Amino acid sequence: MCGIVGYVGKQKASSIILEGLKRVEYRGYDSAGLAVLEKGAFTVLKKTGRVDNLVKLVAPRKFHATTGIGHTRWATHGGVTDANAHPHLSSDGKFAIIHNGVIENYVGMKQFLAGKGYTFQSETDTEALVNLIAYHFAKEPANGDRSRFLESVRKALLHVEGTYGIAVLCTECPDEIVGARKGSPLILGVGDGENILASDVSALVSRTQNVVYLKDGEVVHLTEKSFSLSTIQEQEEITPKIDRVSWKVEDAELGTFAHFMEKEIFEQPAALENTMRGRFSADASTAIFGGLNLTAGDLRQIDRLVFCACGTAWHACLVAEQLIERYARIPVEVEYASEFRYRNAPLDKNTLVFVVTQSGETLDTLEALREAKRKGYTVLAIVNVVGSTIARESDGGIYQHAGPEIGVASTKAFTSQLVVGAMLALYLGRLRDMSYSDGVEYVKALKQVPELIKAVLTQAPHIKAIAKRFSHHRDFLFLGRQSMFPIALEGALKLKEISYIHAEGYPAAEMKHGPIALISPDCPTVFFAPAGEMFPKLVSSIQEIKARKGQAIVITTTGAEFPPGLADERIDLPPCHEAILPILATIPVQLLSYYIAAELGRDVDKPRNLAKSVTVE
Ligand code: M6R
Repeated sequence: MCGIVGYVGKQKASSIILEGLKRVEYRGYDSAGLAVLEKGAFTVLKKTGRVDNLVKLVAPRKFHATTGIGHTRWATHGGVTDANAHPHLSSDGKFAIIHNGVIENYVGMKQFLAGKGYTFQSETDTEALVNLIAYHFAKEPANGDRSRFLESVRKALLHVEGTYGIAVLCTECPDEIVGARKGSPLILGVGDGENILASDVSALVSRTQNVVYLKDGEVVHLTEKSFSLSTIQEQEEITPKIDRVSWKVEDAELGTFAHFMEKEIFEQPAALENTMRGRFSADASTAIFGGLNLTAGDLRQIDRLVFCACGTAWHACLVAEQLIERYARIPVEVEYASEFRYRNAPLDKNTLVFVVTQSGETLDTLEALREAKRKGYTVLAIVNVVGSTIARESDGGIYQHAGPEIGVASTKAFTSQLVVGAMLALYLGRLRDMSYSDGVEYVKALKQVPELIKAVLTQAPHIKAIAKRFSHHRDFLFLGRQSMFPIALEGALKLKEISYIHAEGYPAAEMKHGPIALISPDCPTVFFAPAGEMFPKLVSSIQEIKARKGQAIVITTTGAEFPPGLADERIDLPPCHEAILPILATIPVQLLSYYIAAELGRDVDKPRNLAKSVTVE
């Protein structure tokens, strides 16, 4: 959470920082601020609310500074106020800092610094760190060496418990930035006569596609022409590995859509095509994955899989569990990453752990990965963001290739996780008992997914009308059985996170064990009732809803027949292979949630209290 941008070069820093902040705003939008360094002094502007508020503050100012830092905040320590917005200055006025993370021992630090005469203007943990840097700078001998600034930051960080991605400016070193990371992402963009620091590739791709992903425990010192990388603890110089980012600026732009969420829903046919590209065997009977770093022999030894993830990615794991157990007959457990690391679950010797994450930066998921690796397990990652921390720390894995997802509510990343899960079930199944012909049929079904999604998307106007009809309700139930249950959970999560309507996902047959008490004309149910062996039972459950004057929005299969009047509204899915049904069934609930939130005038892409990537515990 929190977006970071730092610039040193020849251009106007404030413009580049504001552009970068707009692109990372989805990481946190409680407040935004920037600091530029000109004629040996800082100008700091900051404001609660969106980056647009900051833009209005900056507009009348004539900044020429070519060095600066900027920040968008997701509040942790201290309320959402102008004073708590970043950047923060040291009380001697020599340092400015932006920070993403949590400094756990800041109270003790503040007490120590107060005793040394440092003062504080905010309630943040960050202000303690910037003053600690100033304290160390004051203690360092002034020998005219550039490294004095770097050494002060390094020494201060040695005392920090917690997490950070930081960028720091110093009035005595006007054309330099020092950045460092531990637990929060930080990326260096290596430009032509300029260098940029950011928490996210999207903030720097308009300037350069050459990047260095900092690792935990590394500190970087940059000027417009050069940079050096070293470890915080041992002060060892590191030879940087420069990667090339494949994203283009246009990938993260809205185009003609009203919201990124809408764009990303409609992008799904292309995104899932990319997820599958080049990943089917020549005989079209199985999937192939280049990055698992495990042989077929290794995988045949595995007798249990554990999936760890959070939020929407956790729902994708629940679908993968059902498909892998059904088609590969391998027992699967799905864990909330946030619980897994503290649960100390006993794992068998031949267990393989998967972590699933869009951002690759979710702290709970990262810590689950580290915990499993510490215990000696191989951990593979299913991840969307290339070069992210989880992608780099895992033993191998599968990139989703769904492209940048900007909307805070995950859509195309979720369906691409479903595709990867389905492909994994196929791959593992074909390593065991799935026949060649079943494999061929399965591959054929997967290849149809983009076209079938396009067909479901044509119902958008119909779903929009349903959204309009039901948007005034304050409670919803989402019910489904088998692989539709995780999609019910996902539908409920989508609706609540962007429209602030209370929604619960439940296994349909569990309704009678409690949630049926909620059924009333005021609490509509989104009911997944696809054709298949469970269909008669699903119809009975809908009848129980209708008998209690509930309303049912039924997601079903084209041609499925219901008793007259049973469905208040009906959305049809094309008949399909059961492995791809969850993917198709997701589209209507994404659209329904989107249109309800839009109808209510909600801030769809930046819902209250949320941030795209949760990098705090
Ligand atoms: O980046 P990740 O996939 O690890 O993120 C996990 C969750 O924070 C995320 O899915 C969250 O639940 C979304 N807001 C859902 O739309």
